Amino acid sequence: MEFSTKAHHPEKARTAPSPSAIPIVHPTLHDFEEVVAEFRQAWDQGQVTTGVFTRRFEVAVEEKLQVPHAIMVQSCTAGLMLALRALDLTGEVILPAFSWTATAHAVVWNGLTPVFADILPGTLTLNPEAVAKAITPQTAAIMPVNVFGCPPEYQAFARLANEHKLPLVYDTAQGLGSQVQTPDGSWVYAGGFGQAEVFSMSPTKVVSAMEGGLITTTDAELAQKLRQMRDYGKTADASDIAWLGLSARVPEINAITARHNFAHLEDLISRRQALVALYQESLQGLAGTSWQHVPTAYRSSWNYLTMFIDEQQARAPRDAVYEHLQSRNIQTKKYFYPALHLQKVYRQLGEPYRGTLPVTEAAAVAGLALPLYSHMTEDTVQRVVHAVREILT
Ligand SMILES: Cc1ncc(COP(=O)(O)O)c(C=O)c1O
Repeated sequence: MEFSTKAHHPEKARTAPSPSAIPIVHPTLHDFEEVVAEFRQAWDQGQVTTGVFTRRFEVAVEEKLQVPHAIMVQSCTAGLMLALRALDLTGEVILPAFSWTATAHAVVWNGLTPVFADILPGTLTLNPEAVAKAITPQTAAIMPVNVFGCPPEYQAFARLANEHKLPLVYDTAQGLGSQVQTPDGSWVYAGGFGQAEVFSMSPTKVVSAMEGGLITTTDAELAQKLRQMRDYGKTADASDIAWLGLSARVPEINAITARHNFAHLEDLISRRQALVALYQESLQGLAGTSWQHVPTAYRSSWNYLTMFIDEQQARAPRDAVYEHLQSRNIQTKKYFYPALHLQKVYRQLGEPYRGTLPVTEAAAVAGLALPLYSHMTEDTVQRVVHAVREILT
């Protein structure tokens, strides 16, 4: 498949870390000249934060994802903190421990208690049945996570939330461009589920803003509140402060970068789909290895491709594969590891989870994310495949 020649291809550029090093992720950046021309416009006008370019990006997102409100913020973490705060919650939030630490940080920064529930084997997203068992009168919200690009069980969570009158905030950090098929067969983008979905556009994401986050919601009142809350919580006329907000406004250069890269969303994802297919085909038949299962009614954004290496069955344990690839100058990531409830910061909260998390713990010790970025070449994939085969065959 041809890929946009306008994309910045660091494998051919002087900015590559070293000719033979393969990074685990690398932002695919587009349209440098056009982006710089817009930077200059913002610069010359002296309007460098949360201005017309931020709004232009938000409108592009609203149109593409078909969601009425998009609010750009400085990071997904800030977006999650604001979304939880805007809902005025007290008590416990149920979330997976198989996630990046920011999911739980946003909960604790709001004075809420994280309650970790287990994930589904296969998709590795939050298990709705485990969540149902963890609901108590203290439960304030449910926070499912898009895992590596695979959407969580939106329908089951909508039913559960409805039944228990609980808000749903989705951590969709890795899921910009992921889709689900509705019962009538049409496909919808992640973005319009629950009270809010929150995306990341850091350099490790499919669409990068250099740094950035994005909150989407179908609720006009919540959207207005979040717009105010990203700017300290000012009232609409800025004459007073209405909410406990953050300073999470967006530099225009981030919004400009985001909009140009976002315009290539479908290319970025189809390129990743092709690379993932190549990896999976080339790494077939290795004892004790498996992949995340993405159901046919879901489209992953393929932010990460994680191989699961079962210590009992595979030729080598996950950590040895990690070391071996490192010796071949190939960067990988033990992902998500450690699971959140086993991280020092959360261990000291005592036992912030109900029951045990066997699926989470098994996934966390087995997962190894392989290099994947949208402009990766097939030769580079084959170099990784060769190195994996060296140790796991
Ligand atoms: C699942 C998840 N949640 C939240 C975040 C935080 O995103 P940001 O770095 O934009 O704050 C990340 C970042 O990797 C993530 O993977």
